[in-house]
Amino acid sequence: MRRFSADYLEETRRGMWAERDALDALRLGSRERILDVGCGTGELTAVFREESDAEVLALDADADLIGHVAADERLLGDATRLPLSGGVCDLVACQALLINLSDPVAAVREFARVSSDLVAAVEPNNAAVTVESTVASEPPLAARARDAYIEGVDTNVSLGADAADCFEEAGLVDVSTTQYEHVQAVQPPYGEAALEAAARKATGERLAEQQPTLAAGGLSSDAYDALRAEWREMGREVVAQMRENDYERVETVPFYVTVGRVPE
Ligand SMILES: C[S@@+](CC[C@H](N)C(=O)[O-])C[C@H]1O[C@@H](n2cnc3c(N)ncnc32)[C@H](O)[C@@H]1O
Repeated sequence: MRRFSADYLEETRRGMWAERDALDALRLGSRERILDVGCGTGELTAVFREESDAEVLALDADADLIGHVAADERLLGDATRLPLSGGVCDLVACQALLINLSDPVAAVREFARVSSDLVAAVEPNNAAVTVESTVASEPPLAARARDAYIEGVDTNVSLGADAADCFEEAGLVDVSTTQYEHVQAVQPPYGEAALEAAARKATGERLAEQQPTLAAGGLSSDAYDALRAEWREMGREVVAQMRENDYERVETVPFYVTVGRVPE
């Protein structure tokens, strides 16, 4: 199982659900019992709790992450073998989970077993992420690192809109998809999180964590060393621009909210 740190999840989800229209099809106001599968630190769980009076359950396979989640019930378990009886929730949902599974259809089938009404998935197309930056080398380097990662990763991290195909294969009906762009902007005055992210760029830490995946995708160790050296130089330039309050960056991640109904 691919593991995620709480810091990474909190940083990448910041501000994601400031606008919530894309969740309209989940009809949160009328739900009674919701399950968030692969909840991580509970970023989507929190939205469910704010937008409904439902009992909200959260499940993850990572015991460390589950400890960060505020929910009515926290469950440790596997998305493809949920520890719940059939039809006990009226919404089973996930966010950025299917892209991490080798058999996403098996998970959606399991969601449909546990739901008496709706199943939903909020999944990105990571191949279509865009970055704009005042540091000229940042967008091409981010694209190079992303392409190498996608080449090496063993699940479909670009699933996005294709989640609808998984839903139909799992037997769900009335399947609909709404696109939602998560835009994260960094500009002065910089918050603590932006300063920490810049410092991490300058060490190339996250690239180092991804090195096994980059190697699996065919990136030679020489090519990796070159990429990391350029990445760290770019990170130092980001830090330098921040000292002058000159640094600005906008990252856009396209997400797709897919909703389907369990047939009667
Ligand atoms: C990219 S994170 C998304 C977390 C959260 N939903 C969010 O959007 O911030 C993927 C999550 O799925 C969990 N996960 C991965 N495989 C799983 C599985 N088979 N069953 C349950 N959880 C799983 C990971 O531990 C991680 O918390």
